[in-house]
Amino acid sequence: MPDVPLVTQATPQVSDAIQSRRCVRAFSGKPVSEDVVREMLATASRAASGGNLQPWRLYVLAGEARDALVNRVAEKMKDTPFGDGPEYDIYPSELTEPYVARRRRVAVEMYELAGIDRDDTAARAAQMGRNFSFFDAPVGLILTIDKQMGPPQFVDLGIFLGNLMLLAREQGLHTCPQEAWSLWGKTVREEIGVPENELIFCGLALGHPDAQSPINRLKTERAVVSEFADFRGF
Ligand SMILES: Cc1cc2nc3c(=O)[nH]c(=O)nc-3n(C[C@H](O)[C@H](O)[C@H](O)COP(=O)(O)O)c2cc1C
Repeated sequence: MPDVPLVTQATPQVSDAIQSRRCVRAFSGKPVSEDVVREMLATASRAASGGNLQPWRLYVLAGEARDALVNRVAEKMKDTPFGDGPEYDIYPSELTEPYVARRRRVAVEMYELAGIDRDDTAARAAQMGRNFSFFDAPVGLILTIDKQMGPPQFVDLGIFLGNLMLLAREQGLHTCPQEAWSLWGKTVREEIGVPENELIFCGLALGHPDAQSPINRLKTERAVVSEFADFRGF
């Protein structure tokens, strides 16, 4: 039976990783080594999961494997710009407030920083399309989950994803999680050989940021704690 003493000292660096993480949507081509990614994945897999199911599954793409997927989607986008049909509903069809306003706000701010006019649908579509080059990141991950899994296991996958994004910061790297990849489920499945029993949940762009790109200057807003947490008995 594994018997390892509990660490009791505080680990203050976590806040720095959380505060410095943001979605990066322009990467430099600088490579990231396989060893670094493997180590990040091993550490991320310490994520808690209900019943220790560890329901995450990942495809880690670099070099030719990454390029082949990116090129295949780019080719297909010419005929079917909106993808293969979604793997799942990314948002509720009748999204209510305050979520509608939050979603709109991040889009407005992002396009403004990118210098894209809100009425320029072609430029907006092109920016959306950049998801499918992993925003030029040298490493693209595809995260899947067995289709038998439900909401509790999606939370587990989210905890793993969160770990991964924070561990990237420890390596001086940045990330962007990408549900957009779920729009190309069939193509991803064919290109990298994902079995039918796995749902393609999202992608994750991983690499060094393009420090000059205006789009990376976006620091999104957050609701204050009193808006989302009720405190009782303090
Ligand atoms: C599971 C998940 C999927 C996401 N999918 C996309 C995506 O497809 N494309 C994109 O540009 N951003 C995507 N985002 C990024 C969100 O828009 C972003 O996290 C949010 O606006 C907050 O900004 P921040 O991460 O920079 O703090 C996704 C985020 C999460 C957690």
